[in-house]
Amino acid sequence: VFNYLLSFLIAYWNTESVAEDEFIYGQFPSYFRWGIGTSSYQVEGAWNLDGKGENIWDNFTHSTPSPIKDGSTGDFACDSYHKYEEDSKLVKSIGVDFYRFSISWSRILPLGTKEKVNQAGIDYYNNLINSLIHHEITPVISIHHWDLPMPLQNKGGWTNEEMIEHFGDFARILYANFGDRVKQWFTFNEAWVICVMGYGDGIFAPGVKEITETPYTCIHTILKAHAQAYRIYDLEFRDEQQGQVGITIDSGWLEPSDPNKLEDIEASERALQFKFGMFASPIVFGKYPDIVRKSVDERSKQEGRSTSRLPSFDKYWTDYIKGSYDFIGLNHYSSYLVTSASSDPGPGWYGDQNAVTFQDPSWPETGSTWLRPVPWGFRKVLNWIKNTFNNPPLIVTENGYSDLPDVGLNDYGRIEYYKGYINNLLKAVIIDGCNVRGYSAWSLMDNFEWASGYTERFGLHWVNFTDPSRERIPKESVKYLRKVFLSNGFPK
Ligand code: NOJ
Repeated sequence: VFNYLLSFLIAYWNTESVAEDEFIYGQFPSYFRWGIGTSSYQVEGAWNLDGKGENIWDNFTHSTPSPIKDGSTGDFACDSYHKYEEDSKLVKSIGVDFYRFSISWSRILPLGTKEKVNQAGIDYYNNLINSLIHHEITPVISIHHWDLPMPLQNKGGWTNEEMIEHFGDFARILYANFGDRVKQWFTFNEAWVICVMGYGDGIFAPGVKEITETPYTCIHTILKAHAQAYRIYDLEFRDEQQGQVGITIDSGWLEPSDPNKLEDIEASERALQFKFGMFASPIVFGKYPDIVRKSVDERSKQEGRSTSRLPSFDKYWTDYIKGSYDFIGLNHYSSYLVTSASSDPGPGWYGDQNAVTFQDPSWPETGSTWLRPVPWGFRKVLNWIKNTFNNPPLIVTENGYSDLPDVGLNDYGRIEYYKGYINNLLKAVIIDGCNVRGYSAWSLMDNFEWASGYTERFGLHWVNFTDPSRERIPKESVKYLRKVFLSNGFPK
């Protein structure tokens, strides 16, 4: 209790010197790198071409009734499978240093396992990587961004510990084929979303609805699989390739609803630990956050169980997972107010963290219900991470805005968003000393936004989804961000 109250005090004290909404001039350190991102299922299309196997998002979007808001699929998406040359040019036009994309597991291993490698898949990513390098863009790879091969899901997916081995095999194949040119790897993108939305609420693929145990089993397996991929790099590739491996964790900022109420401060800390801490604590400290352990253990006992619903790592796995990162990726979009629950927030996952989150209706709206711009929250979450996890090297792997309906190319809301967020990032880096090494905006172009289909547009480029050419047109924000990126911040 003392430690986390202290970290809050330090965070508030640090942020005091500049008012929350004050704009500051200044530049990022010279080592700072800028990027832009996409993910395989969201942009590639070509779902069944050239030997690619079926993955859980193919299967989920093809099911009836459709679980997707507009009934759409990623079958064709942005057709990036055929348009990678053009995509590389678009990346270049934004003035960034790197492109963050993910690898479709089923395109490389149609059955999910190492027995059958699809050469056409290897070729596709070689072409993309070479085209990026040709344009002087550094390729940065997310190994897994949610599109698990269907044959592996049929074995239980992330609830089955067998996945640890398969994920390790997949990572090894990627290092071996692309590691001569790719030096930065993220094992997983947003494992929280995979496990809570995919294996808990079931609104994302694979659509498992079981909130009491499977989210925890999924998290447990993914942490082990992450460590497996990290250790394989360490043992077999690091000497020769000299790259780095990390993991991307998502977290909003969770602001105590009443900052003077101890209960709300504690609820905010709990919610942050159940979100970011759930993954960061094992890889930094070798164990789940104390507050998570205590809460799930206690509730499991009350439920009359002989073992906790939250599994434990034995000595072997503790050592294996602890320290399995060269840097941590953060995906951050928005902030939420938090109070402790006055009535039982429900069984399992939600009840365990006993925190109710909501957004302030006075914060501006965007095209996504969960996303309201709160630029100062970015600075706060960065400070919380710095204070809670010994200021680890961080890369902001995603940050972005979805357009209100019908804005087309005039995305001034997005410009406002990035200005505020990147300025708060600047404060976190040059005033507060947060160890952030790079920043990647989301996304290069409008794309398949999961359960929302094509109804939410996060792109810096507008994509014409009604025409097979899938024409991409730059929005106004490209000009703005290009200036920020090329001048490394906001020089006077
Ligand atoms: C996070 C996910 O990684 C990405 O796939 C998604 O499109 C964005 N958030 C926006 O929701």
